[in-house]
Amino acid sequence: MDKHSTVQLRTGNKMPVIGLGTWQLTLDTAETVLYALELGYRLIDTSSDYGTQPRIGEAIEKSQIDRNRIYITTKAEETDDTYERTKSNLKELGLDYIDLMLIHRPPPIGAGEDLWEGLIKAKKEGLTRDIGVSNYSSELIDQLIKASGEIPAVNQIEWSPFGYSEPMLKYCAQHQIIIQAYSPLTRTKRLDDETLLQLAQKYAKSPAQILTRWNLQLGTVPIPKANQKKHLEENIDVFDFEISAEDMKTLNSLNEHYSSLGFLPYV
Ligand SMILES: NC(=O)c1ccc[n+]([C@@H]2O[C@H](COP(=O)([O-])OP(=O)(O)OC[C@H]3O[C@@H](n4cnc5c(N)ncnc54)[C@H](OP(=O)(O)O)[C@@H]3O)[C@@H](O)[C@H]2O)c1
Repeated sequence: MDKHSTVQLRTGNKMPVIGLGTWQLTLDTAETVLYALELGYRLIDTSSDYGTQPRIGEAIEKSQIDRNRIYITTKAEETDDTYERTKSNLKELGLDYIDLMLIHRPPPIGAGEDLWEGLIKAKKEGLTRDIGVSNYSSELIDQLIKASGEIPAVNQIEWSPFGYSEPMLKYCAQHQIIIQAYSPLTRTKRLDDETLLQLAQKYAKSPAQILTRWNLQLGTVPIPKANQKKHLEENIDVFDFEISAEDMKTLNSLNEHYSSLGFLPYV
């Protein structure tokens, strides 16, 4: 596995094994994304409500990297007409297709069957290659599948050794759903954990690199966000070491369903 490796989605399409998150990318977004592309990041995660789409589009154009070698995940809000939102996202990004459109979160009532229908239509028309969900429990995903027959390609959820779920991992494996791991660095809140620090020292890597590598070895796709160049560099420099099976177990045992946002909506 290296920084250009991909995972295969249930549709046969391929997605990079690691990405860049852009929520609260407060410095110059275009410059940061361009630098990330130069470093080898090929998956960029954004959303209609992050305000980063226009500058991401600008960076992609400036990079002169073929569109088909870059992977864009973006989202529609639960209050949106998801079909129309797909079109406005395309406009903001300056692209003619999106790789993956997600429902950002389930609506307060129900599973969002109408939101899902809008994305199915967008996919049929080629506006997006794949569709998925974010912050969904397995029960809510089941409801979408029951209503439409369409299985999401991805569930994007908060995911780190401190907060994840074995049953969700199994459910996604059974349905060939890839987990995109958001806040994989716990928004820095657990980087000083004693066990993590010991492992970082053992592998001569940073705590953040251990967290990212844990995701890669689990087959889940981390999308760490970084403004700072040294962080961007560090987060993709995770392909020259391997966490042993025993140390993966140690990391797995740190699970306490921790959430840097408040709670894990899928547990
Ligand atoms: N679907 C959803 O509902 C949802 C929710 C939350 C997030 N997301 C997505 O997931 C992405 C990542 O999650 P997140 O932004 O919440 O949190 P995160 O990636 O866990 O943490 C970002 C924080 O970690 C710092 N950082 C980055 N690399 C580091 C390193 N190597 N060492 C030390 N600190 C480092 C960053 O600092 P600097 O910026 O200063 O470099 C920033 O403060 C988001 O940007 C967004 O794209 C999706």
